[in-house]
Amino acid sequence: MEIINWKEELFPYKQATDELYVKFNSIKKEYIDLEQHSPIELVQTRVKSIASILDKANKRDIPLTKIFGTLEDIAGVRITCKFVEDIYKVVQLIRGRDGKDLIIKEEEDYINNTKSSGYRSYHITIKYTIITATGVKEIPCEIQIRTMAMNFWATIEHSLRYKYNGNMPKHLKQKLEACAEASFKLDTEMGTIRDEIIETQKIIQTKENLVYEILKNIQNLYYIGKLEEMNKFNREFIDLYQYASIEQLHTFNSKLQTLANLYKVNHLE
Ligand code: GTP
Ligand code: MG
Repeated sequence: MEIINWKEELFPYKQATDELYVKFNSIKKEYIDLEQHSPIELVQTRVKSIASILDKANKRDIPLTKIFGTLEDIAGVRITCKFVEDIYKVVQLIRGRDGKDLIIKEEEDYINNTKSSGYRSYHITIKYTIITATGVKEIPCEIQIRTMAMNFWATIEHSLRYKYNGNMPKHLKQKLEACAEASFKLDTEMGTIRDEIIETQKIIQTKENLVYEILKNIQNLYYIGKLEEMNKFNREFIDLYQYASIEQLHTFNSKLQTLANLYKVNHLE
């Protein structure tokens, strides 16, 4: 009887998902810092639970010794996007890394080829190389890319599928098909106002970044001991910021910037 040391076996999968989590979130942050729309809204990762691994191996008649060589979704990354268009941007981002820090093994487009259940998502199976204390390992990982609407549907359907264990009542199946259609419609409709939504988000982001700059500049005045000026700007900012337009905030920050240049303040982070 083969004994699996689960902790040891699963450790590299956790490392792979941790690294991918950081990488995809860095891309998201990069877009935000550049005040651009990020095609990545949310990154989630998981290592399949031992119970689910055993369940799947059982269903597929995979012997214990072959589990780690066969299952390709022990490591999972889920990227949620706002719009369908964003999904294909993320796909491009991943393709751009093919042969660099990951290798694409398979792509499945369940958006253009919706499953009979109504499931929609884009799947990319990759191999990702990690280096652990014991050496180099290639870890298979399934990346699921979907919109928030697709995710809403898939998580609900998944729970119901689990509850009924393959014997879902017909009326429920039909309901879920109707929900899948509604979710598809939502994505399509949202897609038509994508540009406007992105524009609004950019304005919010610009304002957030400006406020951050202003507060940093005010704080710098404190660090170099210009307390009177710091207080003056602080008061002015409190009065200003709630109703200020982006232009007004820009002007305000320029004044602070001029002062910072005058005092030769190095940027203190
Ligand atoms: P597995 O199903 O993972 O063994 O591999 P596969 O490549 O044969 O299947 P597929 O690519 O169809 O699905 C992989 C994963 O996508 C599943 O583990 C689920 O997380 C998700 N998925 C696929 N089909 C459905 C579906 O009908 N409903 C839901 N909720 N999720 C699905
Ligand atoms: Mg698959």
